[in-house]
Amino acid sequence: MTKLANHDVYQNRINNFLALQLNNLSINDDKLHQAMRYGLLIGGKRMRPYLAYITGEALGADLDDIDGIAGALECIHAYSLLHDDLPAMDDDDLRRGQPTCHKAFDEATAILAGDSLQTLAFDILANHNFSQAIKPKQIKLIQQLVSASGYQGMCGGQALDLAATNQQIDLEKLEALHSLKTGALLEASVLMSAECAPQVTEKNKEALQNYARLIGLAYQVQDDIIDITSTQEQLGKPSGSDLAANKSTYPALLGLQGAQQKAENLFQQALQALASLPYNTQSLAEFATFIVKRNH
Ligand code: IPE
Ligand code: IPE
Ligand code: MG
Ligand code: MG
Ligand code: MG
Repeated sequence: MTKLANHDVYQNRINNFLALQLNNLSINDDKLHQAMRYGLLIGGKRMRPYLAYITGEALGADLDDIDGIAGALECIHAYSLLHDDLPAMDDDDLRRGQPTCHKAFDEATAILAGDSLQTLAFDILANHNFSQAIKPKQIKLIQQLVSASGYQGMCGGQALDLAATNQQIDLEKLEALHSLKTGALLEASVLMSAECAPQVTEKNKEALQNYARLIGLAYQVQDDIIDITSTQEQLGKPSGSDLAANKSTYPALLGLQGAQQKAENLFQQALQALASLPYNTQSLAEFATFIVKRNH
């Protein structure tokens, strides 16, 4: 499998940052705090933070600024997984090789841990010690995270996903669903990071946005593919879960080969989007490769 440059470095960096955020919370309810820790710190590839860091690196941003963005994004992602696994949604028992949060604790605690991680994301963004040049952009960064995670982003996509379960939907609707539920946060990882870089032109931001939109969609197409082609041991979550729940997925609509072709097309288009940028985009290109080659 493609190895991502400095993945371990950035994974450690974000894990330390997130552990610190949790340690800094005064503990009112030990069980809830433990469940937040469980949802946030046990495993995870940290793809959204990784993408934020490599974007920042490519564009010459200060990585201390990116910590705040990466931390907030991962809190939203962790919360989305706690809620996604609940019986009311995908009803899954395994996540990152461990019992899901509602299995390890209970449903009410998993709901509250998700809620608390969501608000922690905005706490981090609002209170991060951004450098002087970035401080004036803090409200814009918060707005970007709101759009990517809420009704207009991930939550909206999750609602479309639930509505499309046990239904036949067309390709256009499926693309909108995938782009929102998974694409929006990955897109924000690139665009929020670009906001922290000096002098990125609007034209370059547009190219970055195209890249991010394409890989964000590709990420969920590949997630649908590996739900079929990888084992539970490789995934650390149940395989065949989408089929069992009769979810609308790319393989369900296009067949496995059609879905693989779709991922490949998105990958090629993402590389084209990078080509116009006057930066060293090798890590971003490798990230796109990783997405379509990954088996977990
Ligand atoms: C899984 O996300 C859910 C999707 C949005 C596709 P990841 O593949 O990033 O899962 P972790 O964080 O590495 O466990
Ligand atoms: C999850 O999509 C997307 C979000 C959590 C927002 P899936 O339901 O396909 O994710 P997995 O397969 O459970 O990780
Ligand atoms: Mg789901
Ligand atoms: Mg799920
Ligand atoms: Mg899935």
